[in-house]
Amino acid sequence: MELKEVLRFADDKVFSKTGKHLDDLQEAILKEVLQGRKYATKIAQDRDCTEGYVRVAASELWKILSDVLGEEVSKGNVRAILERAKFYNHSSAIGENYGTVNHNVNICQERARSLTKPQNSQQTPKQLHIDLGDAPEIFTFFDRTSELSTLENWITGDRTRLIALLGISGIGKTTLSLRLIDQIKTQFDYVIYRSLRFSPTLDATLTNLLQIFSQPSEIPQNIETKISQILDYLRKYRCLIVLDDVQMLFSSGQLAGQYKTGYEDYQLFFKLIADVCHQSCLILNSWEKPREIARLSKEDRPVRCFVLGSLGEAAKEILRSENLSDEETWETLIDIYQGNPLWLELTATLIRELFGGRVSEFLQCEMPILDESLQFQLSQPFGRLTPAELAVMVYLANQAEPVAVSECFNKIPYSSSAIVNAVRSLGNRFLLDIIEEEKITLFSLNPVLKQYVKTQYS
Ligand SMILES: Nc1ncnc2c1ncn2[C@@H]1O[C@H](COP(=O)(O)OP(=O)(O)OP(=O)(O)O)[C@@H](O)[C@H]1O
Ligand SMILES: [Mg+2]
Repeated sequence: MELKEVLRFADDKVFSKTGKHLDDLQEAILKEVLQGRKYATKIAQDRDCTEGYVRVAASELWKILSDVLGEEVSKGNVRAILERAKFYNHSSAIGENYGTVNHNVNICQERARSLTKPQNSQQTPKQLHIDLGDAPEIFTFFDRTSELSTLENWITGDRTRLIALLGISGIGKTTLSLRLIDQIKTQFDYVIYRSLRFSPTLDATLTNLLQIFSQPSEIPQNIETKISQILDYLRKYRCLIVLDDVQMLFSSGQLAGQYKTGYEDYQLFFKLIADVCHQSCLILNSWEKPREIARLSKEDRPVRCFVLGSLGEAAKEILRSENLSDEETWETLIDIYQGNPLWLELTATLIRELFGGRVSEFLQCEMPILDESLQFQLSQPFGRLTPAELAVMVYLANQAEPVAVSECFNKIPYSSSAIVNAVRSLGNRFLLDIIEEEKITLFSLNPVLKQYVKTQYS
């Protein structure tokens, strides 16, 4: 049978069952394997990707074909199975007078429905497994109603597979993700939270996750098999996994979102979570935007970014819970400290200890005052900046008004490209205020960051 015919048959079968055609990579793998060739090296070279990536894509392809053809497909038997299926398909089509039904249904949705929506009331309810590891306990939580509702819609309505929950340190990512877990946990089979604060390798993270689903003796040694097994679980069960502190995977002293040496395979893992068909959702919390997320989050892809901002009016509840007085001045305080819950908590403690809780007296000092613990908080993201980024921050800290990128050229001893890249990277660390005017984009620093830069670097 002609190679082309077998390929077309495979594509037709996959399309009629899943509503999706084979993509270029799947077709390339199938073409090589059907010709009895070793596919991984050649395809990896042709496409400038790793062999591991191609192998994982191949193992996904065998699973899709197994599903579509109703028997276990592997690279060793794919040709025989496809030829046999094509032969029988042809005969039965003749016998049934071509009366075939086009099941134009996506298998992801089909599986998701069968697991999440009981077909009848007799069905056994799902068992919920929650493993929040070392997640902090949340004692108080204010507002974030619209943020919670957007995230819930993305996860339950749009079936988003990968969400980056981003924002400057202290803005409330961990707190919000734990609240979200609490709000939607009953829709899942597995709910997992893990912090990557000690920079575990991908291998260690996968082993840790697999332990939740299986016995230690069942966990494979090989990382590709571990990835494949995790993807199997994400397909089989509806899982919500939060990986917190993802910025710890990125290098210090490099532009934002650059993986440390030895951690690059996380990028491949996150891409697979976005690309491969499954019914789960992975949330990545970070104060640096992962590079691949920007590329992956397009309208038609199940990947989204959520940048968390000020707590707004609800920040008053933080001041109230700290027993501060002079409520009429609270808005000014919240504005100065950007509605950042952590910055406000630290400052509120200072106001209580030194000003008897009187906000108006505190505001009479030259603003903003940076409490020592707040300075320590800020030293962490600043410690990761490149020299060019730091030069941009120092320049911006000394400007009275927001400036355009071009205004930095010739004022900072770096090339225009280095300055443009530094500004972009600072944006990806959420350290810049970006103002879009009619024909120009302007950049500035908020009062807290301005003050920090002036005291530490001028
Ligand atoms: N909605 C909220 N209501 C009440 N307190 C909040 C809220 N969001 C955050 N906080 C408080 O603000 C502080 C910082 O929050 P959190 O640790 O979630 O920030 P984060 O963005 O995860 O910071 P980091 O990037 O440093 O991990 C915590 O003490 C938390 O209790
Ligand atoms: Mg956090």
